[in-house]
Amino acid sequence: MRLRPEEPADAGAVRRVLASAFARPDVTTPPEVGLVDELRGSAEWLPALAMVAEYGGEVVGYALLTRVRVRSDRDEVAALALGPVAVAPHRQRIGLGSAVVQAALDAAAELGERLVVVLGDPAFYRRFGFGRADRLGLTSPWSGLGEPWQARVLPSVGGGTGPPAPGEVIFPPPWLKV
Ligand SMILES: CC(C)(COP(=O)(O)OP(=O)(O)OC[C@H]1O[C@@H](n2cnc3c(N)ncnc32)[C@H](O)[C@@H]1OP(=O)(O)O)[C@@H](O)C(=O)NCCC(=O)NCCS
Repeated sequence: MRLRPEEPADAGAVRRVLASAFARPDVTTPPEVGLVDELRGSAEWLPALAMVAEYGGEVVGYALLTRVRVRSDRDEVAALALGPVAVAPHRQRIGLGSAVVQAALDAAAELGERLVVVLGDPAFYRRFGFGRADRLGLTSPWSGLGEPWQARVLPSVGGGTGPPAPGEVIFPPPWLKV
């Protein structure tokens, strides 16, 4: 297994991983494929935080962190959204998904990022330290998400500054279409 940031030549392989992992009978191309393509061309894209997992020389896993903002009464601060996370079905359940998510979170912490939000199955994400985002006072554009709306405060490189300020997490437009 090799974990590394996505390179331009990986875009096709990443699309195939997303299309196979999120395949549904009712759509020809799952929305996660378009989401990543749109984010890749946006100001919210952070090249060091789009992580691929190679296995047997083939890109089969993906975890993406992109920029979001948390708006509070006082100010607006930068944070990250995790997703999509995907592993090609023929390589699932051998640890690649966990490894590629952890690699993306480690890279974010090294860059001094503090807060990551995710919308997904708590049974998968709690192993990385995610917990309910509403307990941190973080709201999303989608109402009534409950447990799948999660957040993780990253270990801070330069020493802790306490919990993040509560507020509304602002997602860029590509997210609002999915
Ligand atoms: C979710 C996904 C990325 C996990 O990748 P993976 O390489 O199979 O994960 P791992 O092998 O690292 O497994 C890690 C653990 O997650 C569990 N797991 C796998 N898929 C899961 C899912 N959809 N929901 C909850 N837990 C899941 C595994 O059972 C394993 O648990 P264990 O450590 O207790 O045995 C992969 O199954 C996938 O691409 N699913 C389809 C796309 C998707 O739903 N992505 C978003 C996830 S919320």
